[in-house]
Amino acid sequence: MEEVKSLKPLNLFEYEQLATECLSQMALDYYASGAWDEITLRDNRTAFQRFKLRPRVLVDVNKRNLATEVLGQPLQIPLLIAPMAFQCLANPQGEVATARAAASAGVGMVLSTLSTKSIEEVAAIRHDTNLHTPQWFQLYIHKDRGLTRGLVERAYTAGYKALCITVDTPILGRRERDKRNEFALPTGMELANFTKLSGLNIPHQEGESGLFTYVAQQLNPAVTWDDLEWFQSLCPLPLVLKGILRGDDAARAVECGVRAIIVSNHGGRQLDGAIASLDALAEVVDAVGDRAEILLDGGIRRGTDILKALALGAKAVLVGRPVLWGLAVAGEGGVGHVINILRDELDVAMALSGCASLEKIDSSLLFRENHRSA
Ligand code: FNR
Ligand code: LAC
Repeated sequence: MEEVKSLKPLNLFEYEQLATECLSQMALDYYASGAWDEITLRDNRTAFQRFKLRPRVLVDVNKRNLATEVLGQPLQIPLLIAPMAFQCLANPQGEVATARAAASAGVGMVLSTLSTKSIEEVAAIRHDTNLHTPQWFQLYIHKDRGLTRGLVERAYTAGYKALCITVDTPILGRRERDKRNEFALPTGMELANFTKLSGLNIPHQEGESGLFTYVAQQLNPAVTWDDLEWFQSLCPLPLVLKGILRGDDAARAVECGVRAIIVSNHGGRQLDGAIASLDALAEVVDAVGDRAEILLDGGIRRGTDILKALALGAKAVLVGRPVLWGLAVAGEGGVGHVINILRDELDVAMALSGCASLEKIDSSLLFRENHRSA
């Protein structure tokens, strides 16, 4: 944290700038990139600018309450850390540092299947810190059903509070920077949930991203709605689907018993040209009503972004890359600072728009600009 103080990043963009100096080119490109022309990656940000705020005045905002619940689980602010693979590329403590920062700040964390610290190592921080914010496990469905079942059972046993299945990745999107870099994990870094058990790891491959090859070889692109029942039978955890961008898919998910939906285009890393996640939110909220909770990720960089997503009906949001920037710059302290910046910005944005609590945030706060002017 000393380092952070001396450099004084004021916002998440300054963290990104600093992080570029702390990461190898291969790690930076992997973290930052989107698919193909990165149109969706950029649009995730510009979508927020297309909405303007209509603040209410003369409201008592002396005391503000940012706390909420998702799936009945408490959050100090409506924020979770998105699942992101390979966090040891940013810091040797990787996902453990992220989990500690999340727990101290009272925000949720979703651990990726492709983590570089194991399910159990990350769960252990809850006992160390005695803090009880939710950890969820993100599942990539492998072709090997036994292996997939094993992951779910381990997550349940370790105390994760939801099973978050990512549904936008039957194969990996094409990230050209990773292909050029022949992305692979450095020697000694492993897929912590697998290597010892199954020898699975990210292969080094000439002219190709090793991750692209891994996903093509190991993940199951044939999964359908019919398979959801199988996951539900594996453990009693609530099911969350991540990567939905359409109202009809969201409605179908609810009919299958899914308890929460994460509106997401995977940070622009899967189908380039896909709609910005913020633009998909209203349709999903309309289709689902109060039958499930709706979360959103993609492009959250300011407190006002959180306010806008909540005004459109999200219960909470997830933040991705800025957490990696914080981790790269100053480990656990950097992640904690990134979360604090977002908390402070949301608090100020709520006060200035006349909302003393999250329940006061509604769609009347928003003015949508004409598409073409953006
Ligand atoms: C991701 N994301 C992701 N999603 C997932 O379900 N499982 C995963 O393992 C990963 N891995 C991953 C790695 C990296 C480096 C990034 C940047 C993203 C997607 C992630 O959960 C989330 O959807 C986006 O990152 C959100 O967008 P922002 O906040 O990064 O703009
Ligand atoms: C990614 C995968 C691992 O976006 O989800 O890199």
